[in-house]
Amino acid sequence: MGKTNIVLTGFMYAGKTTVGGLLAAMTGKRLIDTDTLVERDAGKSVSEIFAEDGEGRFRKLEREAVARAAAAPDQVIALGGGAVIDPGNVDRLKANGVLYYLKIDSDEVARRSANSPGRPLLEGKDAAQTRRLLESREEYYLRAADVIVEAAGREPADLAEEIDRDFNRRKTDGQGEVRGG
Ligand code: S3P
Repeated sequence: MGKTNIVLTGFMYAGKTTVGGLLAAMTGKRLIDTDTLVERDAGKSVSEIFAEDGEGRFRKLEREAVARAAAAPDQVIALGGGAVIDPGNVDRLKANGVLYYLKIDSDEVARRSANSPGRPLLEGKDAAQTRRLLESREEYYLRAADVIVEAAGREPADLAEEIDRDFNRRKTDGQGEVRGG
């Protein structure tokens, strides 16, 4: 049987949660946002966890959230941008999920972050520092991805349709396996 979870990864502001919401509506799958799970478990926001408990605590809560999400079927899972750094997270997600990497560049990150703060790892960072962080992440996204989706400058609905089409093609092929990614 094919895999039943659609998993979205990529840097902060790539649109994982927005595209995930659209995909959930299109497919009837449940949307799971791992940052939301973490916030629910901790009883505070991601920014508060980073500030009060540190990134290590956040990553531990994130691992637990990913494990729970990965274990359930028929979901769209929108990951936090750092979740795929942990190879254990990737392995768990891949057991029943196809991983889509929403790829954006640092100019796009800068444009989108101006309107919507709340990412502790980008706070106080200038454009060059943001670009370096994105570049240091790239290898993890590429290693984790089954499919790379060019997301810069594109509408969320367009991205959701492309992913839905790809996911359905895998289902009808009876595969759910890595192809060309
Ligand atoms: C992080 C991305 C954030 C959130 C946390 C750390 C990261 O999620 O998990 O601030 O390390 O890239 P989004 O990618 O949804 O912004």
